[in-house]
Amino acid sequence: MKQIFEPLTIGPLAVKNRLIRSATWENLADDQGRMTPAQFELYEELARGGVGLIITGYAFILDEERANPGMMGIHDDSLIADYRTLTDRVHELGGKIVMQIAYGGSQTGYPTEGREIWGPSAVADLATGVVPTPMTQEHIDRLIEAFAAAAARVKQAGFDGVELHGAHNYLLNQFFNPYYNRRQDQYGGSVENRARLTVEVFEAVRQRVGHDFPVMIKINAEDFIPGGSTIDDSLVLAKLLAQRGIDAIEVSGGTGASADKIPVRMKINSPDKEAYHATYAAQIAEAVNVPIIVVGGLRSPEVIENLLATTAIELYSLSRPLLVDPQLPLRWQQGDRSPSRCLSCNHCLRNTANGVHCILTKEG
Ligand SMILES: Cc1cc2nc3c(=O)[nH]c(=O)nc-3n(C[C@H](O)[C@H](O)[C@H](O)COP(=O)(O)O)c2cc1C
Repeated sequence: MKQIFEPLTIGPLAVKNRLIRSATWENLADDQGRMTPAQFELYEELARGGVGLIITGYAFILDEERANPGMMGIHDDSLIADYRTLTDRVHELGGKIVMQIAYGGSQTGYPTEGREIWGPSAVADLATGVVPTPMTQEHIDRLIEAFAAAAARVKQAGFDGVELHGAHNYLLNQFFNPYYNRRQDQYGGSVENRARLTVEVFEAVRQRVGHDFPVMIKINAEDFIPGGSTIDDSLVLAKLLAQRGIDAIEVSGGTGASADKIPVRMKINSPDKEAYHATYAAQIAEAVNVPIIVVGGLRSPEVIENLLATTAIELYSLSRPLLVDPQLPLRWQQGDRSPSRCLSCNHCLRNTANGVHCILTKEG
């Protein structure tokens, strides 16, 4: 029987257990995207807490682009030395760490004045109202190169892999979502065309970092907006990426405009509400031969064990539970199997001025 606390491999990457810290933006980096001391501490705390793999908060790949304030940057070689310090510290503490890289676009919490925001088509973002500039081929080439260069920096900095953000209505997901993608060229229309940008980004990244470096992606199983992409689309995307050698796929869902199906759902207060993307993740896990990670509402070990026993989902990703308690994996491993204390109240997302934090552990 598969166990939570047993080692396994994600492509070339060995992890000590099946628990992952899902990417979590912290609003702690400085204006240039440099990590601050509080952020180093946070990652050390996560490494000490026993999670098998840490995925960083999303990092921006072009100087002028930000999905949110206080994001880490990976747009410039001058940042590599700090990240080398981070990866060394995490490794010394027995942890593994992957960096998530992202282009935001119209899904942004960062001031948009004076910035050119790229998107598939000039369709107003349902959550932010921002209307992006439809990308030309020149923009697309620049974007692909920016992802590849960022991934090369991630490798140089000693991370254990890189994750592409292809979910939650950020740019790659918008190209895949037919509501936002109204293009008539080879990047719009059929599901293969809508997947093309993601596939091209993956291939450029793979070419740059080589086959010995894990490349993962986070995708939406469904966008949960009228006219958005569906699980049938996502099965095609997962197969296209699997055929080309992606090392793992993290399955999420929703956008900021998806009502009660946003990626960060609220009121997860009973086991039946947990693991809210698991049915989709299990479907994808049946369809492809790469490790599937499920994220969203995981709170108790029994739910994870049940999924391990009944589905082909290999890995289990947590965000909010590790904000309230970075030591949760260690606690479960040592026999205290009570669920996460996370209230799923999303105070952590709304009160970010002094850094993302949990209402149960820090005021403000
Ligand atoms: C404060 C906060 C920041 C987040 N930042 C990111 C991010 O940088 N990248 C990402 O892919 N998801 C991000 N997410 C979404 C989480 O990774 C995860 O998909 C979602 O919170 C559901 O999982 P949970 O129920 O374990 O919190 C964030 C969530 C929260 C609460």
